[in-house]
Amino acid sequence: MAAVDFASLVAAILEDYALPITGFHGVAHWARVFENGMRLADETDARREVVQLFAVFHDSRRITEHFDPGHGQRGAELAKAMRGQWFELPDEDFELLYLACAGHTDQRTHPDVTVQTCWDADRLDLGRTGIIPHADYLGTEVARRRDTMHWADGRASFHLVPDWISQDWKVDLATFS
Ligand SMILES: [Fe+2]
Repeated sequence: MAAVDFASLVAAILEDYALPITGFHGVAHWARVFENGMRLADETDARREVVQLFAVFHDSRRITEHFDPGHGQRGAELAKAMRGQWFELPDEDFELLYLACAGHTDQRTHPDVTVQTCWDADRLDLGRTGIIPHADYLGTEVARRRDTMHWADGRASFHLVPDWISQDWKVDLATFS
């Protein structure tokens, strides 16, 4: 299976992204979720590619930065539409990606560790909105650990922009600010 070309994928997703890409749910958030997810996956053994794809799809079809019911489902449907042309995933993994995107808005925990890793990676970035993530809303042991929460929250609160975004995703956030 070919590795995902994230630069092309992100460019295609952004073509119809309705919000500012520098916004609360924009590309820097996607990238921090991606990194949070990889850090968690080192310990949870989640399907790494599913977590990476979740990072770029889960908020990709928001239409408001505020309460936006249904945006998870819309992100899941976009992933379904782009599968096969923009990325490949075996059925079993795609099912997890779909569930993770669709359910991230209103479900708290999931028995599958990959889905839970996706949700924890997203919630660990809540500090960007001034909300400190609470361990009760995190499902994996590694996400609930003090050192993990501290690390992720520090990055979220400072709206850290991972420096690999320009290289790996070919997105230069400076030109959008
Ligand atoms: Fe998110």
